[in-house]
Amino acid sequence: MLIALTVAVDALRPVVPCSLLSFSMVPFASCSIIIGGVSWIVPNRVAQQLDSMLYKAYMRLCLFVFENLSGVEIYYHGEKQNVVDKSGKPENVVVLSNHQTNVDWIVPVMLAARHGAQGSEQSFRVMVKQSIHFVPLFGWYIFQHGYIYVRRFGEFIGAPVLRQLRWLNESVPPYWLLIFPEGTRLSAKKTQLIKNSNQFLESSGRPPMRNVLCPRSGGLQLALDNLSTLDAIYDVTVMYGQMRKENRRALAPGMFEFCCGPQTHKQIHIHLERISIDKVPKEKSDLRSWTTDRFARKERIIDEFYSENASVGNLLPCVPLSQTLPSTLFFTAALAAPFFSKTVARIYLLTVASSPLLIAWLHIRKCV
Ligand SMILES: *[C@@H]1O[C@H](CO)[C@@H](O)[C@H](O)[C@H]1NC(C)=O
Ligand SMILES: *[C@@H]1O[C@H](CO)[C@@H](O)[C@H](O)[C@H]1NC(C)=O
Ligand SMILES: *[C@@H]1O[C@H](CO)[C@@H](O)[C@H](O)[C@H]1NC(C)=O
Ligand SMILES: *[C@@H]1O[C@H](CO)[C@@H](O)[C@H](O)[C@H]1NC(C)=O
Repeated sequence: MLIALTVAVDALRPVVPCSLLSFSMVPFASCSIIIGGVSWIVPNRVAQQLDSMLYKAYMRLCLFVFENLSGVEIYYHGEKQNVVDKSGKPENVVVLSNHQTNVDWIVPVMLAARHGAQGSEQSFRVMVKQSIHFVPLFGWYIFQHGYIYVRRFGEFIGAPVLRQLRWLNESVPPYWLLIFPEGTRLSAKKTQLIKNSNQFLESSGRPPMRNVLCPRSGGLQLALDNLSTLDAIYDVTVMYGQMRKENRRALAPGMFEFCCGPQTHKQIHIHLERISIDKVPKEKSDLRSWTTDRFARKERIIDEFYSENASVGNLLPCVPLSQTLPSTLFFTAALAAPFFSKTVARIYLLTVASSPLLIAWLHIRKCV
């Protein structure tokens, strides 16, 4: 009996963090809809502040799961350059990252949590694939918060993208916009993708790469052309300790392994370089070659990571519980509330029921 229970608990362990994050979307969206309603009567600024608080709380819940529950060790490489620093000044940035797993997005949140006295988790946005808008509640919410939906293929840039960029450009609180120039996740299993990428590199007279794909600069171009309030680019290279295990080269851990897998090799290595925006070319072909140069650099950084003489890096302390626990308690309480209050249960049901409408709303308002 006890053994069966232990086995059951062990089997359920991975479910806990994932359910916490996904089910929390319901109270989250309910709050957001309420804020949307309130915004008709309070000044815009106040509504925006409430939204920032809500989003920051959710990001901190994510940090609780991805840092504290996972017990990952975070190693920082490169100069600190006032980014990972309490005295870091707020700034508008594009974060350029390599992409290997569905965990990558948390890295800029980890950096933002350590930027400035209060943390800057609320500034985090992502340039995402358009299909994500179909994810119930989440897809609708992230549009409200300034995420940018782009189509992966084709050069066509719709009016909604430009409108969203203009909104972000003019938003008063700073923004960090994450872009994955490779457009898709790299893994050792995707041999055809790597082959195509290398054929393209070869045709433009560049050496092949195996740790990253040849980047596309379209998204970055769009951001540079439309965000004149940008201060800098953070060039981030993310590497996972698990990939140093035998036969794991270029096989990054997924969310389950990252949060709930064994503790051995559970590390994130972050290499960061801050590039002031005036050092970045704006012209199309210059920008393309600049971006490819940046990725050639990542290729070398990752090669070094696999080598026997890899730098150890600086261990960053886990984000303090005082920063994450209040949000975690808030969402846990919000998830327990419908069991005690019929009103709350009804609000959640309405929210869930409205999710197809919210997706439809995105289409009717021509947001995607
Ligand atoms: C996570 O939180 C617990 C307290 O709930 C603390 O003891 C532990 O050290 C934290 N984990 C990390 C990796 O900091
Ligand atoms: C926004 O970016 C697009 C594509 O780079 C460009 O064509 C357009 O002129 C930019 N808009 C503004 C207002 O600069
Ligand atoms: C971005 O915002 C700044 C400051 O509000 C403004 O001067 C600039 O024209 C805007 N850029 C674009 C491309 O709209
Ligand atoms: C690693 O460092 C040692 C000692 O500094 C050196 O002898 C060795 O050649 C290095 N190995 C590589 C692969 O660079």
